[in-house]
Amino acid sequence: MSSDFIVQVGHHQLQLLKGDITAITVDAIVNAANSQLAGGGGVDGAIHRTGGPEIMAELHVVRSRIGYCETGSAVVTGAGRLPAKYVFHAVGPIYRDGNHGEAATLQSCYTTCLKLAAEHEVKTISFPSISTGVYGYPVEEAAAIAVRVTAEWLREHSGPVRVIKLVQFSDRDHEIYRRFAQKLRDGFATGTHS
Ligand code: APR
Repeated sequence: MSSDFIVQVGHHQLQLLKGDITAITVDAIVNAANSQLAGGGGVDGAIHRTGGPEIMAELHVVRSRIGYCETGSAVVTGAGRLPAKYVFHAVGPIYRDGNHGEAATLQSCYTTCLKLAAEHEVKTISFPSISTGVYGYPVEEAAAIAVRVTAEWLREHSGPVRVIKLVQFSDRDHEIYRRFAQKLRDGFATGTHS
């Protein structure tokens, strides 16, 4: 799968891709999980289907240790048969009306995963559009957060993460992400991005 849109951030890249996240080779794939770490539909279902039962077996062990994963946080497992070394299972917020800390919690999903990536020497990481399916987060708002937070991370950290891939499943979502990424790229080009 080729990268559809690239924002160059110093020596690093923010890439936007449209497609199935389980088919993209990276060091770490981020999952949009639930706090029970119990599996589900959407991207969570795809990750467990393609990755195989090993991932759920590892989550059982994590659950017996910590019970559950807090919203805005993430836990790490291996990636089973997925083309990756790790899966970071992030728990996004369930969207209510935008006035219940949803933006800060969603942002925390991205930064937690990027911190985990740094700890695990991950060079390439892919994110789905966390919370924008079953959890009902409006894509326009979620895309603005995802693009801004990941680009800022690349700008402020020299390594080890070199490439962040934001993966959208539909044409519509891809177009929305692209709009935000385009604005960011124009800002970098003219030096107006603060
Ligand atoms: N690759 C990339 N993106 C995907 C894929 C896939 N294979 N399958 C679905 N998506 C997209 C959806 O289109 C949506 O844009 O992932 C985004 C997130 O949607 P959900 O998977 O529904 O995740 P979320 O809204 O965070 O809800 C999490 O759903 O499946 C359950 O266990 C999960 O309870 C948790 C909840």
